[in-house]
Amino acid sequence: MASAASPSEITSIKAFAESNGSSPIPFTYHSLTEPRDDVADHLACSIPVIDFSHLTSHDPQIHASTVHQLANACAQWGFFLLTNHGISEKLMEEVMEKSHEFHNLPLEEKEEFADKGPLTAIRHGTSFHPQAEKLHYWRDYLKVITLPQFNFPHKPPGYKEVAFEYSRKIRGVARELLIGISESLGLDAESIIESTGFDSGLQIFAVNLYPPCPEPDLAVGLPPHSDHGLLTLLTQNGIGGLQVKHTGKWVNVNPLPNCLIVNTGDQLEAVSNGRYKSVMHRAVLNNRDTRISLVLVNGPDLDKEIGPALGLLEKEDPLFKTMKYRDYFEIQQMTRFAYKSGLDEIRLN
Ligand code: OGA
Ligand code: NI
Repeated sequence: MASAASPSEITSIKAFAESNGSSPIPFTYHSLTEPRDDVADHLACSIPVIDFSHLTSHDPQIHASTVHQLANACAQWGFFLLTNHGISEKLMEEVMEKSHEFHNLPLEEKEEFADKGPLTAIRHGTSFHPQAEKLHYWRDYLKVITLPQFNFPHKPPGYKEVAFEYSRKIRGVARELLIGISESLGLDAESIIESTGFDSGLQIFAVNLYPPCPEPDLAVGLPPHSDHGLLTLLTQNGIGGLQVKHTGKWVNVNPLPNCLIVNTGDQLEAVSNGRYKSVMHRAVLNNRDTRISLVLVNGPDLDKEIGPALGLLEKEDPLFKTMKYRDYFEIQQMTRFAYKSGLDEIRLN
C-alpha cells in the first residue's frame, strides 16, 4: 500500500520522503517511461570539455581553436563541461551549502515563497505544478529571477549575498560563451549579445533538491525537457543524476571536479537558425543520497523579439519565426506538460 498522504497534498517531496522512509512511493510518481538500460555509458567520457581560459586567451590561435571546439560541442551535443571558468571553488561551495540550508528550513519558514506562477520573482515548490499535473516529479525547487533585477530569499542568513556574487559571475561566463558562440557561427563577436538584449536579459536561478527515492527506477526527478533560454550553467553537490540525450541515447553526465555543466537552450537554437540544437535532458534518482543542483538559465531580454540571427539569413532561409521572449517563455511553461518543445510553436514549415 502506498503512503496515506494524497499526492496532490505533497508540498515538499523532501518532507514526504523523510516521513515515507522505504515504503513504496505513491503511484502518481511512477513516471519513468524509458527504461534505464537505454543509457549509453560508453558515451559519457565523450562529452566535450571546453577550457574557458583558452576561450578568453589573448593568443589568437588558442582562442580560434577553442571557438572551433565550441562550435563542435554546440552542434554535436548541445552540451559540454567547462573547466577553468574562474569562479572560485569557495564561492561554489558556499552557495551549495546555503542552498542546502534553505531546503532544510522548516516548511512554515518557506511558505512565504510558495509558487504563485512562472514570472513571480521568488517561488518555492515541488515537482512542477502538483495541483495541475497527473504525474509528479521527485524534486523540490527554489526558482528566483536574479536578472535583470536581483531578487533572493532573505534566509538563511548570508544566502542572498553569495547567491548575488554567483549569479553575476555565472552571467559573465555565459556572456563570454555567447561571444565565442557568435564567432563560431561566423557572426560578429557581439552579435548575439546585441540582438538578444542579453545585457538586460533574464536569468533564472533554480535550486533543485532531489531526495533519495526508495524506488528510483519508477520515479524521475525531472522528465525529458529542453531549457527555454540561451545557455544554462549547472553545478551539483557531487551526486550524479543528470542525463543528456545524444544520438538517441541517454548519457550520464559525470562532471569533472569544479567544472560548470553547460547546455544550449531553445533560444540559442532559434538564434542559430537550428544549427545548435537545444539539448534534451532529464534528472534521474538514486536511493542513497540527496542531490542538489544549481541551475542558472541565461536568456534574452524578455521584451526582445528573438529569431534567427540576421547575419545567418544572408545565406539561408529562416527555420523559426521571431517571437518576443516573454511570449515564448509563457508558451514553453505551458507546453512542457505535454512533452512538447516550445520550439514547435515557432518552427516554420
Ligand atoms: C533544470 C534541469 C537538471 C538537474 O532545472 O532545467 O534540467 O540536474 N535540471 O537538476
Ligand atoms: Ni533543464
